[in-house]
Amino acid sequence: MEYAARITGIGSAFPKNRVTNDQLSQKMEALGAKTDDQWIRERTGIRERRFSDKNAPQEHNSSLAYKAADKALEMAGKTPDDVDQIICATCTPDTLIPSTACWIQHKMNARRAWAVDINAACSGFIYGLSMGEQYIKTGKVKLTLVVGSEVLSPFINFTDRNISILFGDGAGAAVVERTAPDASRRILSSHMLSDGSLWELFYIPAGGSKLEVTPERYHQNLNKMTMSGKEIFKVAVRTLTSFAKTALDENGMTISDLDWFIPHQANLRIIEAVAARLKLPMEKIIINVDRYGNTSAATVPTALDEGVRDGRVKKGDLVLLDAFGAGLTYGSILLRW
Ligand SMILES: CC(C)(COP(=O)(O)OP(=O)(O)OC[C@H]1O[C@@H](n2cnc3c(N)ncnc32)[C@H](O)[C@@H]1OP(=O)(O)O)[C@@H](O)C(=O)NCCC(=O)NCCS
Repeated sequence: MEYAARITGIGSAFPKNRVTNDQLSQKMEALGAKTDDQWIRERTGIRERRFSDKNAPQEHNSSLAYKAADKALEMAGKTPDDVDQIICATCTPDTLIPSTACWIQHKMNARRAWAVDINAACSGFIYGLSMGEQYIKTGKVKLTLVVGSEVLSPFINFTDRNISILFGDGAGAAVVERTAPDASRRILSSHMLSDGSLWELFYIPAGGSKLEVTPERYHQNLNKMTMSGKEIFKVAVRTLTSFAKTALDENGMTISDLDWFIPHQANLRIIEAVAARLKLPMEKIIINVDRYGNTSAATVPTALDEGVRDGRVKKGDLVLLDAFGAGLTYGSILLRW
């Protein structure tokens, strides 16, 4: 390969509206579903999440993504004119056509870029980063913008106690640029796998081409997320652990070499179980699920952004990104920041 790829800028954006567990419980109770702050905190570690205002154009998926991208470009010292490629990982696009990536391109006026969405659910940012990295390695692209952005709140069934407590809205974006193949600061490797046979553990039945949303299906909540929480929990712990190990093994490294672990933020208890299996101290894990819930493709880039901006992630640190999601999809990326 002619080049390697490195993240040179990172950014995130969230909607304004904070919804605490108490506020969520009230909303759910009005619909006949019971939960409470203590249960949610004990089982998930989530205290609050953000829900976007559907009537506010600045809080549409592509607008949050645009804001995150703008911050990432600023950190990298680049402008929209420098962007060759936009990869947007999302399962909650603004519109089915055109792609959210095209909306982002339009909003940022990145006239030289070609733009595309990918859907790998919560593993989306890792899949997108790996795909962008390949274009950079071959020399086809100089600068790619990889976005993980979701507005999940319209797909929450607030009468489903498992679903409604977990999810939130937000966006993260990374500027990825060329560097020398032997540079120390670069993406070291990526590892991905999908298992479509497990689709039923987490899916949205209606709204695609297979099953239209009719008034009747809408009232049955068939256009909302449905999930087997317990099964997903087990698969998540197993695969996050094994993909973390694979990334380290393939680079001849061990857990003690790691400076930061940034796993998909679905549930703090999943993260704790993985940390215990990896024998990794919780202090080495960047966590934002407590304040934002599960923002799907946005959890990994927003947590990375937080770690970089508050000074925890420093130049040269070894960082492991690790995710699982609907599909099911799994993936990890090891990089030197
Ligand atoms: C959803 C999740 C928090 C549920 O936690 P859990 O411990 O598995 O809970 P269970 O569904 O087994 O329910 C345990 C009990 O709590 C109750 N309960 C479930 N949800 C509740 C809620 N929101 N509030 C209060 N009680 C609740 C159940 O009714 C059950 O009561 P019972 O024992 O009297 O029957 C957990 O399974 C999870 O996080 N799974 C992973 C999901 C995930 O990561 N999805 C994203 C994939 S990218």
